Amino acid sequence: MVSSEKSETEFLPYGRQSLGEEEIEAAVRVLRGAWITQGPEIEAFEQALCELTGARHAVAVSSGTAALHLACLALGLGEGDAAITTPLTFAATSNAVLYCGARPLFADIRDDTWTLDPEAVTAVAEAAGEKVRGLLPVHFAGLPADAERLVEVAHGRGWWVIEDGCHALGAQWRDGQGRWREVGDSPADATVLSFHPVKHITTGEGGAVLTGREDVARRVRELRHHGIVRDPAQLEGSGPGWYHEMQHLGFNYRITDIQCALGRVQLSRLPGFVERRRRLAALYRGHLAGDRRIRLQAEDPGARSSWHLLAVRVPHRDRVYDFLRTQRIGAQVHYPLVTSHPYYRRLGYAPELCPVAERHAAGTLSLPLYPDLGEAQVERVCETLVRALDAAEAAGDGS
Ligand SMILES: Cc1ncc(COP(=O)(O)O)c(C=O)c1O
Repeated sequence: MVSSEKSETEFLPYGRQSLGEEEIEAAVRVLRGAWITQGPEIEAFEQALCELTGARHAVAVSSGTAALHLACLALGLGEGDAAITTPLTFAATSNAVLYCGARPLFADIRDDTWTLDPEAVTAVAEAAGEKVRGLLPVHFAGLPADAERLVEVAHGRGWWVIEDGCHALGAQWRDGQGRWREVGDSPADATVLSFHPVKHITTGEGGAVLTGREDVARRVRELRHHGIVRDPAQLEGSGPGWYHEMQHLGFNYRITDIQCALGRVQLSRLPGFVERRRRLAALYRGHLAGDRRIRLQAEDPGARSSWHLLAVRVPHRDRVYDFLRTQRIGAQVHYPLVTSHPYYRRLGYAPELCPVAERHAAGTLSLPLYPDLGEAQVERVCETLVRALDAAEAAGDGS
């Protein structure tokens, strides 16, 4: 098959990793060495994360979900507590609250940026029966939620803030002094990252907690390794040289040296990945902006998205999705609202609790976006999307 034919029929997933020889060599180098886990690559990766984001501390763990769970525990979330988040997220965000025995509360999103609405947060907190302890905004699709404003709302009420930055490594936000800062360098108590293959960088599976708080970093480090404390200097008095003792109920949420070696190479490529994602997103937006049927995520003058997802909102979404699939375009839905999942419905939640998010989720669709996607492929997706919308309109299903 000649390459132009191939490019017209090649299946395009919504996201995928970009791995090269350097990553493979890094993983092999670790495999040939003495430490394949609990070795020096982990700290080196954490250090690289701090240098890149400006965070004071980074603790790498086995997944973004583990990072969320440990951040919640480290900030003291427990039974009888509640924490507020958005329903427009992967279930892992609110699942972390449930893992702690606490209750997630859902506040609505803004209709333009699709991130948590600070006004809605206040309203939910006022109506809550439980003691709200924290807030978990999500930087949806790579666009930083208004972190400074949300931190102001939260800290003003004595809550902590964990930014779910799983979509937003490499994104920036502008602080009150007009200074651009990286996601991870923020007044929040912690920021959580994921290194799943569809994200900006990958370690296969993996995640991290970034924080400016020494106490949070220390507790997350302990909890990722069963709650075992090793440093006798942390005890009152002194302990023997071999000292290690379980002080808290922790987990095995460790990441391996193999993953971290790979992750370090990926991190060195992050600026290029983000630049490429921004270029492709601009191309998409240029092609799609004139079509009145397609809603694009609003840009925010106080934020620079790192474009994890190219999400649009369209009428007849399910028909459009099916049409794209017949054309070998692997669009995806991010997300069915957390409050609509059967498990959450059984807990008494319902999508109607957040009507803006409910309306958005009914039409949302994510188009292929990843660094190795070609510009001609973006054009192919845009042309096919317009054909899909025409066909769905002609079929007139009224959705
Ligand atoms: C917003 C958000 N939070 C949390 C997670 C969980 O990350 P992981 O898959 O690394 O556990 C994801 C992963 O898709 C996510 O998109």
